[in-house]
Amino acid sequence: MTISDVATAERASSIRTSRPRHYAMTAPTFFAVEYAINPWMDTSVPVDTHVALGQWETLRQTYKELGHTVELVEPVTGLPDMVYAANGGLIVNDKAVAARFAYPQRAGESAAYAEWMTRHGYDVAETRHINEGQGDLLVVGAIILAGHGFRTQHQAHDEIAAIVEMPVVSLELVDPRFYHLDTALAVLDDTAIAFYPPAFTERSRTKLLELFPDAIEVTSADAYALGLNAVSDGRNVVLPAAATGFAEQLSDAGFRPIGVDLSELLKGGGSIKCCTLEVHP
Ligand code: ARG
Repeated sequence: MTISDVATAERASSIRTSRPRHYAMTAPTFFAVEYAINPWMDTSVPVDTHVALGQWETLRQTYKELGHTVELVEPVTGLPDMVYAANGGLIVNDKAVAARFAYPQRAGESAAYAEWMTRHGYDVAETRHINEGQGDLLVVGAIILAGHGFRTQHQAHDEIAAIVEMPVVSLELVDPRFYHLDTALAVLDDTAIAFYPPAFTERSRTKLLELFPDAIEVTSADAYALGLNAVSDGRNVVLPAAATGFAEQLSDAGFRPIGVDLSELLKGGGSIKCCTLEVHP
């Protein structure tokens, strides 16, 4: 970086402000790769649940140290993917929507997360079409970016818009490695995002650049480290430690990247964001 780059980064960082967040997480107590429903999963690769638990605990501590609230959802035996709490549903604008999963192996998670929401005072709505919660439904300020193509069905987007009473922008995913929107796009604050253009159709890419002309575009190396599966509080961005290029882009844009290693959970096809259900106000 040149002196003027440093000055620019400093200016940018002074305008980035964090907001305390509210997250729900589920411990990987029963985490395993017993079936393969995305290209990251390989049932012949051994999984160390103990390591997964340690890495997940580090993530939880990181949020706490940043001053965020983390609530825990009770893991259920026989639901090895339940650690990916983002898929449990969508909570925003005082509304809660339960997930409807694409694969039968995860169907049982829906009731577990819906029950948690009910206990927290929400009147939980359901959709007729498949929606995999915050895996595909990302809140950016007053709008929702919604993925389709692999899991959440396009028809669910209108249902979601009607339930949460927010505009939904549909984005089509085309690469099976980036099967959920949160694997190909990271929300950085109410107006900033980062994304991996090859994961989207040309039309969706154009839409994103119209809405977010300053969007950060990440490299394949960072996208393949699931670098975009990150969680931001507006200033601190918790991201997979291996996504070093993206971390640098974030610093240049005034954010504070915090790398966390969730390599064991990557074996299930998820990372930081997948393990975090944000309870939006
Ligand atoms: N094994 C899980 C699945 O394929 C991983 C889910 C990752 N979650 C996410 N929000 N991208 O459904």
